[in-house]
Amino acid sequence: MKFDIVNTNLKFSDKVIILPLFEKKIENYFGDENVYEEINSIITQKFFLGKYGEIFNFFTGSEKKIKIILLGLGKKDELNPEKLYEVFAKSIKFADSLKFKEVNVVIPKFDNKITQNIIETSLLATYRYDEHKSKPQKAELEKIIFNIKNDKKDLDEIKLRAQSSWKALCFARDLSNAPSNKLTPDAMANEAIKIGKENNLIKVKIFNEEEIKNLGLELFYSVSKGSDEDAKMIILDYTPKKYNKTLVLVGKGLTFDAGGVSIKPSQNMHEMKMDMSGGSTVLGVFKVLKDLKPQCRIIGAIGSTENLPGHKAQKPGDIWKSYNGKTVEVIDTDAEGRLVLADVLSYVQKQYKADYIIDIATLTGACVVALGCEYTGLFSNDNKLEDMLVEASKDSFDKVWPMPIDDSFHEELKSDVADLKNLGGRYGGASSAAAFLEEFVDKGNKWAHLDIAGTGMVSNVNKSYLSKGATGSGVKLLLEFINNNC
Ligand code: BES
Ligand code: ZN
Ligand code: ZN
Repeated sequence: MKFDIVNTNLKFSDKVIILPLFEKKIENYFGDENVYEEINSIITQKFFLGKYGEIFNFFTGSEKKIKIILLGLGKKDELNPEKLYEVFAKSIKFADSLKFKEVNVVIPKFDNKITQNIIETSLLATYRYDEHKSKPQKAELEKIIFNIKNDKKDLDEIKLRAQSSWKALCFARDLSNAPSNKLTPDAMANEAIKIGKENNLIKVKIFNEEEIKNLGLELFYSVSKGSDEDAKMIILDYTPKKYNKTLVLVGKGLTFDAGGVSIKPSQNMHEMKMDMSGGSTVLGVFKVLKDLKPQCRIIGAIGSTENLPGHKAQKPGDIWKSYNGKTVEVIDTDAEGRLVLADVLSYVQKQYKADYIIDIATLTGACVVALGCEYTGLFSNDNKLEDMLVEASKDSFDKVWPMPIDDSFHEELKSDVADLKNLGGRYGGASSAAAFLEEFVDKGNKWAHLDIAGTGMVSNVNKSYLSKGATGSGVKLLLEFINNNC
């Protein structure tokens, strides 16, 4: 898919045009009286009222060759940004279903961020993962031209941001949607190496399972024991010529999570191929640093392995020593994400002096129970960092909700036989998982944890800009965070 952004007047040479209209209000987008009259008569005859989500299409022009798609925005005072994103994406899906190759979309004047989000969600409307279909069901639509009313001077910025977000999102979704027999930890490491080759400011270092074990990352190693695939710790280091802040992004990269010996029920277990979505979000962000050129040093660290049962797999009751020295009793081998992340977090803190550390992970089913599928759980030990993420979340339309970690959750993690156990109490599982991670954050370090278990994947699609499977949750949030603070 190609796209362009213009803020010129509409021309009749444009063959397919999506025209958004508020309820019972006609906007003369063309300055052409004939089309205006035609739309007016459609409205008076009540073929189209402009109700929210309504679509009506007709041919116009002297040879009746110009397709106009009227798109209802509803009442102005009932509209909100989220409804806008949905309705524009819906109209793109509609244009695609009519098998048009190129479409022009008029976007009325909105705040720059809202316009950017409309563009991104519209582009996502045609996303699909069809890599393994013998007959890929490609979108018919090949190009979208967004005709926006924002100031000319803001055009380039909006275009750069929308282009990079969209590219990063598709990249992250493709990786997450890939099956675990194709996207192994090794394949994930190779994706990072490719990103490094595309950008000479990024250095990539890969640690294999043997090195992970020898370094003393026993918690990480314990998870990988059940799998024949070689575990990888993937480190990406983006260092621009000038920077004054360092940001560390840590991603959970479980290319498959069967639960290990504490095996999961088989229903929907296939979705656990997406348990590397935190890692794919981090890779998505790194993929577009070349275009965005932020002035921060950014370190990416991904712990990638599989969690499988097997004769070599770790067992409940096993005790391991983490990279930072704390010992952990593994009560439930399915709580593996926190084991991997704990060691990767300890490792990056030893290696880099970071201003902010943010980890992102499909960590707990409990977070899905608590917040559903639209809000990412946000946990932090620093109010300011939490505010910065909430701010970025509002602008990027990548929703987060602050969640608590307090002493009671740490209390629950005490083990009879080791310093910690990897399972908390019966309730508040998202918070006890976050508390476990916090045990591995050094005093004074500003850290936030994003639990995307609910937002990283969709099984019941209810939005036109989502498709079944991976969502790329966190990509827009982190890009906005970088954009605001670097
Ligand atoms: N990968 C899962 C969490 C998950 C659940 C992600 C649903 C996406 C959708 C994680 O490793 C896990 O299994 N967590 C357990 C933790 C429990 C054993 C304390 C869970 O949530 O059930
Ligand atoms: Zn698990
Ligand atoms: Zn998992």
